[in-house]
Amino acid sequence: MDQFSYRNGELFVEELPVRAVAEGAGTPCFIYSRRTIEDHYDRLVEAFRPIDPLVCYSVKSSSNLSILRILAERGAGMDVVSGGELHRARAAGVAGDRCVYAGVGKTDDEIRLAIREGIGLFNCESEAEFENLARIAGLEGVVVRVALRINPDVDPSTHRYTSTGKKETKFGVDLERARQFFARYGRDPHARLEGLHLHIGSPIYTVDPYREALAKTAALVAQLAKDGFEIRSIDLGGGFGADYESAQSPPLARYAEAILDIAGPLHARGVRFILEPGRTIVANAGILVLRVLYTKTSGEKRFAICDAGMNALLRPSHYGSFHFIWPVAPGAELVPPRRALDPGVSGTVAQDVVGPLCESGDFLALDRQLPAKISRGDLLAVFTAGAYGMSMASRYNSSPLPAEVLVSGSRADVIRARENYATLVEHELKPTRLAIGATAAPLAETAR
Ligand SMILES: Cc1ncc(COP(=O)(O)O)c(C=O)c1O
Repeated sequence: MDQFSYRNGELFVEELPVRAVAEGAGTPCFIYSRRTIEDHYDRLVEAFRPIDPLVCYSVKSSSNLSILRILAERGAGMDVVSGGELHRARAAGVAGDRCVYAGVGKTDDEIRLAIREGIGLFNCESEAEFENLARIAGLEGVVVRVALRINPDVDPSTHRYTSTGKKETKFGVDLERARQFFARYGRDPHARLEGLHLHIGSPIYTVDPYREALAKTAALVAQLAKDGFEIRSIDLGGGFGADYESAQSPPLARYAEAILDIAGPLHARGVRFILEPGRTIVANAGILVLRVLYTKTSGEKRFAICDAGMNALLRPSHYGSFHFIWPVAPGAELVPPRRALDPGVSGTVAQDVVGPLCESGDFLALDRQLPAKISRGDLLAVFTAGAYGMSMASRYNSSPLPAEVLVSGSRADVIRARENYATLVEHELKPTRLAIGATAAPLAETAR
């Protein structure tokens, strides 16, 4: 369910024609629908109401301050994985104690920043990290709250780059090591180990991996209780699906049903639940709009060469991900009845949709059935680009980053200005001599 739909052969976002928004903002640009973001968040909260979780939106999925503010105003906390993301969450008005902080490589400066901001929970990923956390908390004279990230060793059946809860991953510690971990560190005076955290992968289109992971977690909670350790919070991570194809994901209520079975009794015994959704809230709330610069045929192959590719949306080349692509104004006869590999439209021909970069891997779609009449100057919409789009975008080939526009009804706001050539080089204009022997200031201090 989203607010991008064709009316009389033209794509609209809420009440506005996408063409008008894209022409005003310039292409490439990301366009988001506020109503879709709000609706997805509200549905998630409603589905999980019986366990009243703290919903910590996963900042990495789409980290624009205006998007964070929409969610913060609705009561969301934030899941952050770096000092930069924590800075964004705080700038969006989210209290530090409503943020949880995961990540295998937290630097000392980042840990100190999180302590200063009163972070709700450190999601700790290793023994070495715990010892460092406890050391820094001790030096700062504070007590921090910590959840141990565990690998429940379930297969989420997703891309290996985003499968994060199996034994071989760099994330968290194996289930078998969790009891030893608590035995060794569970009574630390400065780092209070009181929760469990898991994130098994993303996107996950069936509910069974969640059920399996949570069942293993519940068994661990019981074992730890016998060992004398009370678990006060369980963070289930994110990973709920998004509709890259029409109706691809189970409704949020289905995920909730599977989880509530096991989570309900734990909640009744006082365990606080945390969720870290990203994609399921924002993926379908955003599109990327590109302009076709040229069309070209090489041998049998047809190309639509656009003004951005992997620099704006890395997912197709990085993960081989499918994103539905269709002209913004195809005309009434070519409106696709569904977003899918086969959109159910006749008169299409296979085309590669590629960007301008000097890489063969710079594509958004390969051999995709698209209207034969696509030509120079047309606008194309890349759907379900709201998550891991702009947040993974790069300036490769000195491509200025795209604008981001937020549409609310019939109003459009530029929420991130399109970069230009001046902003592209602004950090390079004045080389400064490095004082050898000096130490770089923590990033949080240089940001003040
Ligand atoms: C620890 C953690 N939590 C939450 C998420 C969000 O996942 P998704 O956007 O699929 O909900 C991720 C994504 O990588 C993650 O690593």
